[in-house]
Amino acid sequence: MATILAIETSCDETAVAIVKKRQVLSSIVASQVDLHSLYGGVVPELASRQHLETINPCIDRALAEAAVTWEDLDAIAATCAPGLVGALLVGVSAAKTLAIVYDKPFLGVHHLEGHIYASYLSQPDLQPPFICLLVSGGHTSMIYVRDCFQYQMLGTTRDDAAGEAFDKVARLLNLGYPGGPIIDKLAQSGNPNAFKLPEGRISLPEGGYHPYDSSFSGLKTAVLRLIQKLQTQGDIPVADIAASFQATVAKALTKRTIQCALDSGVNVITVGGGVAANSGLRQHLVNVAKSHNIQVYFPPLKFCTDNAAMTGCAASEHYDRGEESSLGLEVRSRMDITQVKQLYSNQS
Ligand code: KG4
Ligand code: ZN
Repeated sequence: MATILAIETSCDETAVAIVKKRQVLSSIVASQVDLHSLYGGVVPELASRQHLETINPCIDRALAEAAVTWEDLDAIAATCAPGLVGALLVGVSAAKTLAIVYDKPFLGVHHLEGHIYASYLSQPDLQPPFICLLVSGGHTSMIYVRDCFQYQMLGTTRDDAAGEAFDKVARLLNLGYPGGPIIDKLAQSGNPNAFKLPEGRISLPEGGYHPYDSSFSGLKTAVLRLIQKLQTQGDIPVADIAASFQATVAKALTKRTIQCALDSGVNVITVGGGVAANSGLRQHLVNVAKSHNIQVYFPPLKFCTDNAAMTGCAASEHYDRGEESSLGLEVRSRMDITQVKQLYSNQS
């Protein structure tokens, strides 16, 4: 079984992991949250500079904690798309350099494929086909995973991503960054039925609504209007707003994902990305899925948000198929997951 050193620097976490197929030997995540929270969101230039300073100590720690040497490694992988170009460049340049110095194959990894593979870390026997609900700071996607590396995008967001909506609503409530975990915690003490908020359905030109696509910008505006109205009446019930907002997102995502699974004829749903850590979503999705005999798998909490263990897990699947990436592979800010095969040349 191949042992892979994987690097993830697509946004604001410098992460390095050593993975043996679906077994995590070490996973180091150096978060930049404190740095970016001063600005209320990720500042790309600061992210790149911080990755540069942190990457080498993270690599050293990952090797030490896994108790492996360079000789023990079979390949070096790094997230190469999509993400912040300057941030991706740090991880990919480090991985390519190590691949050259230690004469190992290099594998570029699609960030969303990493999030999909995070579910294999808690469920090593998981097999396609399944629907993956991928909800992060940059994405809200319903992906039909037909087979390994065969992806079909069935649903997406028309505006804000789910995590982005959590971050923006937290900002409206002056709660800090990143908003998701803060709202999640506050929602525990609030009433989810206190306020009725719009789920953000997408109208179709021929009438009716899109079954899987979502929109969160209307929900965010509704929260803004609600706050403005409540401000004129006295104290704002922050926990009730957080709970009502979270319940609305959970309901909207659950309804669409279940519909997507039923229409696709699959009885397994996986969830990936930072918002997969949300307790409201986890509870509601599992409950509704149960009534349809659908099984739901979430990654372990620490592998929901960005990490390199998921990157290594996806890379080892490609490595096992004899694939590797060219050292000329370039980082890309955008890349559809259906194009993932473009990252590899088959070596077998
Ligand atoms: O996957 P991720 O770490 O980075 C991206 O690829 O975007 O996701 C980060 C996003 C942020 O928007 C953050 O607010 C959200 O995930 N998030 C959560 C929770 N933990 C992180 N959202 C809701 N509930 C949580 N517990
Ligand atoms: Zn991510």
